[in-house]
Parts: sequence; C-alpha cells; structure tokens
Amino acid sequence: MFFFSFLYSQFFVTPALPDHDFSNQTIIITGSNSGLGFEAAKQFLALHCFKLIIAVRSTSKGEAAKQSLLETNPHISASQIEVWPLNLSSFKSVRAFADRASSELERVDALVENAGLDGGRFVLSEDGWESTLQINVISTCLLAVLMLPKLRQTAERFKGTPHLVLVTSDTHYWARFEERNAEGGILRALNDEEKFNSSDRYAPHFLLAEGKFRFPALQSQLKLTFHPPLRYATTKLLQILFIREFARRLKSSPSASYRPILTLPTPGLCHTPFFGQMKPPENAVSHPLGTVTHYAMKGMLIALSRRADVGARTIVTAACAGKEADGAFMMDGQVREVVGWVLTEEGRRVQEKVFREILAAAGVKEGDLV
Ligand SMILES: *[C@@H]1O[C@H](CO)[C@@H](O)[C@H](O)[C@H]1NC(C)=O
Ligand SMILES: *[C@@H]1O[C@H](CO)[C@@H](O)[C@H](O)[C@H]1NC(C)=O
Ligand SMILES: *[C@@H]1O[C@H](CO)[C@@H](O)[C@H](O)[C@H]1NC(C)=O
Repeated sequence: MFFFSFLYSQFFVTPALPDHDFSNQTIIITGSNSGLGFEAAKQFLALHCFKLIIAVRSTSKGEAAKQSLLETNPHISASQIEVWPLNLSSFKSVRAFADRASSELERVDALVENAGLDGGRFVLSEDGWESTLQINVISTCLLAVLMLPKLRQTAERFKGTPHLVLVTSDTHYWARFEERNAEGGILRALNDEEKFNSSDRYAPHFLLAEGKFRFPALQSQLKLTFHPPLRYATTKLLQILFIREFARRLKSSPSASYRPILTLPTPGLCHTPFFGQMKPPENAVSHPLGTVTHYAMKGMLIALSRRADVGARTIVTAACAGKEADGAFMMDGQVREVVGWVLTEEGRRVQEKVFREILAAAGVKEGDLV
C-alpha cells in the first residue's frame, strides 16, 4: 500500500511553493550548503525572510552557498545571511550553537532541521553513539529542545507562530524497529555493532525475503549492491516518535499559549548530491552482476526522484503550516498518517520511552523541559 502511495506521490504530485510572507523572520536551516537545505534557503529568501542562518559542518562550503544565494538575490544584503558552524557529531557543538543562537539572535521564527546522515557503516561518534543515531536523532532532538525557549520567546514577543521543522522521510514506513522492546533500552540496542552489521545493512524482507526470490545468484548480488537505508529508516521513525511526544507534551504544558508548531515533512525521494555519492561497494564490483545491479538501482532511483527544489517546497510549507499540522507527519505539503503501528497502545508506550531515552542520551533533564 505504502509503495503505491509513494509512486503516486513521486510521479503525479508536484508540491507547490506556499503563498506565504516570511517578512521580518529569522530562519535557521541546518545542512543548507547543498541539496534540499540549499533549495529551501533560496525559497525562504524568495518569500522575503529577513535573516537566514546557514548552519553547516563545513563553514567554507557554507560561505560558498552564501555567495551563490547573494548572487541570485541581488536585493539581499550580505548581513542577512550568516554561516554558523554546527557539527551534529558532537553534543558540545550542538550546545555551543544553541547558546549562540539564543544570545545573538533577536528572534527565531523557524528552526529547520534538515541535516542528516545515511551511513552504511557502523562508525562510533566521539560521544559514543553510532553516527546515524547521533546525527539524525540524538543531536537533532537535542538542538530542538535547546532552541525551545528561544522559539517560545519569539512567539511571545512578536505575536507570531514559530515553527520547528524536522525533515524526516517516508522511509520510516520501512523501519522494522525490532529494538522497540529491547530489555537494556532501545538506544543501547541500536548502538550494538554486531546487530547493526547483521540486520541493518541488508535488504528489507519484502524485497528480498529468502525463498521468495527465484534467482539466488542475483539475490546475493542485490544484497551486496543495494544497501537499503534500514538504519536511516529507523532513525527517521525515531525522529517522528520524538517530535510527536514533544508536541503532545507542549500542548498540555502550562505555558501552552506560547509555543512553536512542530512539523515533520518528508520531501519525498529527491535528486540531490546524495546520488552522486552512491558507489558500488567493493565486495560487489568483483562480480559483473554486482556492478550492473548497482547502476540499475541507481538509475531507477534517479528516474523516480523529483527535483530538489520541488522537494524543498514541502519543507518551506512545513515552516508555515497551521495548527492542524502540529506534531504531524506531512507528505506533499499535507498532513498524513504515520505508520499505523505508532497509533497502537504499544506505539504510544514506545513513543514515550523513546522520548525519555533520547533526552537522557542528550543529557537533558525531563523536568527542565516544559
Ligand atoms: C515587519 O516589521 C515591520 C516593522 O516592525 C512591520 O511594520 C510589518 O508589519 C512587519 N511585517 C510582517 C509581515 O509582520
Ligand atoms: C565534528 O565533530 C567530531 C567529534 O568531535 C570531530 O571528530 C569532527 O572532526 C568534527 N568535524 C568537523 C568538520 O569539525
Ligand atoms: C561490522 O562490519 C565491518 C565491515 O563491514 C567490520 O569491519 C566490523 O568488524 C564488523 N563488526 C562486528 C562487531 O561484527
């Protein structure tokens, strides 16, 4: 079912740029030196945003992006775009960024958390977490939590409705998330290298289940060549669980009147520099079939994808969405249901557990939050 809705969305839906005026607004976009973040930056400028903070790991790439934005927008002055370092591999960097944003910026109308990693290998960060988990989940959620007071203050002072946009993905529908009931904790289970190697690196069961496929040689090549982003999918599901729970708590907190709207857009599959980085894995190129399946897969993905600027419109839409989108997953600019399991009793319980575990991993006390 999901697959057909995905194909329909990719081929037949072209999200439109929202008709919204971002005048006077300050917008932070993470990972905005290329791809979707860069296209979203262009669109915010076109819709008159006043100040743009390009939050990037490499400030030299960020400066290049800034130059390019200034060239295409001659009416913008150089001081309206700032490049700030943010390295999600490090909690220290996230905290330094949030401190700076809270003290230097007069207002933050939208925090767009777009930066993410699709790592195929297990790499431990300096803080001791598998990198995809740290970058996409723990650091991203930490930044969201640390920026809450500034977003609230902006709501109160400027009588607006700030937005916290976490760019997620429809790949969350694929996540198997077998760790949801892990005894020693969900994040700890996800941080196990052996388990990562054995279950997160290979194809999803619905595509390549043993016994269902008649060509074992091709199947083993496909497994080697096509590393579906299973860990990525799990991190996207974790983002959704965290933000849903965060929004739920904010709505019921005593200071509920001054709060941001939290949104979870998926841009869909987009043609971004990410495709250029897709290389056949070493163990696959030794076999001619491996190289062929790699390029066939890459070609298929490119054929399915939409332009990055079209995908970026869904992000901009999520940064001005109404209350109906608060805490919601959005596809093609519309509120959509998340994977059904999340809505069950077990889903609610796991959602709360995920929220608590992420806060603990990020070193945030629950009591400090709302
Ligand atoms: C932007 O700020 C100016 C000056 O404070 C104000 O007059 C104007 O209405 C604001 N525009 C929007 C869209 O909020
Ligand atoms: C990001 O932080 C990690 C961990 O501290 C460090 O190893 C890495 O070099 C940093 N990257 C950049 C671009 O600063
Ligand atoms: C996981 O796989 C990588 C390379 O594919 C290997 O270097 C590493 O030793 C493996 N780790 C475990 C715990 O099996």
